Amino acid sequence: MPVATKTEAVRAEIDQLDASASSAQELMQKLVKLLHERMLKYNWVGFYMIEPGSQPPMLVLGAFEGAMTPHVRIPLNQGICGAAASSGQTVVVDDVGKDPRYLACSLETKSEIVVPVFCHGKVVGELDIDSHFPAAFTAEHRDLVQHCAALVSRKLEASPS
Ligand code: SME
Repeated sequence: MPVATKTEAVRAEIDQLDASASSAQELMQKLVKLLHERMLKYNWVGFYMIEPGSQPPMLVLGAFEGAMTPHVRIPLNQGICGAAASSGQTVVVDDVGKDPRYLACSLETKSEIVVPVFCHGKVVGELDIDSHFPAAFTAEHRDLVQHCAALVSRKLEASPS
């Protein structure tokens, strides 16, 4: 059997976490810890969730690992975070210095990925990861981060409302 790549090994650990987590909140807390510890270029990992009933809709920082960010609340029309949540699409930015939408969290950040989290077809939040390395989020990483977001979506949909 071929030796698993790093992302394959981490994906297997993520699936174990998912099996043992009894709520979406617990899964999100464990995921940010695991991704931050195991993926060396994932220097800030956090979830933003849309505040229920907020008008205009607002992303609010949830579980995260890394330095505290000044962006605890982000309106949907601001930042790379707002772009991902309002479009429902994954956003990958290879050089944040060249993206006018970028809201700076750390001077060291060079690239970023934001993947929306859905619940019954509606965007309810997102998984945001910053790297100190340019273009850190290749297709392999995009797949891994999208897998994490999909697991959270599934947990949310399974939980009693
Ligand atoms: N860079 C994000 C803001 C969140 S911090 O990176 C944690 C953005 O442009 O929306």
